[in-house]
Amino acid sequence: MRASVLSDWLGQRLERGNGQPIYRQLHRLLQQAILSRELPAGSKVPSSRLLAEELGIGRNTVTQVYEQLALEGYVSSATGRGTFVADSAPDEIVGAPDASVLSANGPSILQGSPGLPMLPSGRRALSERGGRLIAGAGVSKRQWGAFMPGVPDVTRFPARVWSRLHNKYWRRTRPDLLTYAPGGGLASLRHALTDYLRSSRSVRCTPGQIIITTGIHQSIDLAVRLLSDPGDVIWTEDPCYWGVRSVLNVSGLQLRPIPVDAEGIAPSADDLAQPPRLLLVTPSHQYPLGTVMSLARRRMLLEYARQNQCWIIEDDYDSEFRYGSRPLASLQGLDTSGQVIYVGSFGKTLYPGLRVGYVVVPEALAESFATASAELYREGQLLQQAMLAEFIAEGHFTSHIRKMRTLYGQRREALLDAATQRYGDALPALGGDAGLHLVMQLPDGYDDRVVAAAALERNIVVRPLSGYYAQPSTAPAGLLIGYACVPDEEIAPAFGQLALAIGDL
Ligand SMILES: Cc1ncc(COP(=O)(O)O)c(C=O)c1O
Repeated sequence: MRASVLSDWLGQRLERGNGQPIYRQLHRLLQQAILSRELPAGSKVPSSRLLAEELGIGRNTVTQVYEQLALEGYVSSATGRGTFVADSAPDEIVGAPDASVLSANGPSILQGSPGLPMLPSGRRALSERGGRLIAGAGVSKRQWGAFMPGVPDVTRFPARVWSRLHNKYWRRTRPDLLTYAPGGGLASLRHALTDYLRSSRSVRCTPGQIIITTGIHQSIDLAVRLLSDPGDVIWTEDPCYWGVRSVLNVSGLQLRPIPVDAEGIAPSADDLAQPPRLLLVTPSHQYPLGTVMSLARRRMLLEYARQNQCWIIEDDYDSEFRYGSRPLASLQGLDTSGQVIYVGSFGKTLYPGLRVGYVVVPEALAESFATASAELYREGQLLQQAMLAEFIAEGHFTSHIRKMRTLYGQRREALLDAATQRYGDALPALGGDAGLHLVMQLPDGYDDRVVAAAALERNIVVRPLSGYYAQPSTAPAGLLIGYACVPDEEIAPAFGQLALAIGDL
């Protein structure tokens, strides 16, 4: 395009008075002309004086646009000779196809997960691994409301205490708390956690063995990256939590789902004959069924892991909430040979959005875990960790747990009452005397995914049990019903809505 032709082309496209500043319009049009090669590499653009005159705009505007384009690498100026379109316009980056060019290949069969984006050439935009993650995604767009499983009552969080601590720490600038974390997390929080985990979960560790993370997802990601290679086998409980299953899947591990019986994970003789590299279990409260792993099974697993040099990841996600009896001791506390990686979180005890969790590792691994966590995730949030350490040290943490335990116990009873009134013994509830949710079994012939979708139409969030199994098509049908986040007086009406959704089918 010659200079005069360019001025005409631009003149036809600039729209005065359309609310978009002329500067921005001119910048975008010139970018477009360069990306579409209407203005080929090496061609000279009109001088700012000439272009300003021909377009009837201020020369400063043109100069500023040229300067911006030069900064972005679209043009370069040679003193005394003028401004030229750069040889290598960054078209691969800035000219990436817009949303209308990338398309999605229709909705996935899984609730809430989007279709997979396709390139114009017909190839999938995502890697094979990325495609698997998105196609199998279990995450829901709704994260609050009756009967969202796994979510505590965040409205009861002691906001006033938190806000006092927040103000205290922001009163003066502390560069040491505002920079990156060197790895492992803040010493005061690790000390506070050591005491708490020892007394409430029988976890045996020193502060140096604790690495602060953003939650169980990240702790497991870290452990898997450090302790296994792609292709290694991991045993998972069947059923198990979908979120962690996704983390394991994208790590390139081979997942071997192992059934769960009344005593916890139950490997067959065949399974035992092929030791995995890792095992992931929820011994205190099997997720989602609620079974507690028996002492005999715990001992068997620990001995098996010792003999076969496997790592056991113990996910202790909600064991603080046990109604009627004391919380059970951790598997880590029974481990004498350093095979257990213990992961926990403040997500259920305080609030999920806090994104603070911890991993407790055998002493020999502690330094590597701390370094890897800083190396991979460039950790921070030290100020928040300082607040949390003080929150625990001042006793607010244990007192909050105590209050919530009473509250959730009442809500659990209210839910069981509502279910019994409506169905008697026809739809039995599983889930033990613990946690933040119950599993209600559905009669044969019911598709729990259809029931969950019908409930959502009535503004009730429940999750289909079958989705937690490795083979959903042959899994028992049931619903995960979270009661912790539902105010007492809303439980019965919300259950009424759920019953209508079940009855509609
Ligand atoms: C078994 C289990 N592990 C881990 C998590 C998530 O933990 P975090 O929020 O700390 O990543 C959940 C959440 O529901 C869970 O059910």
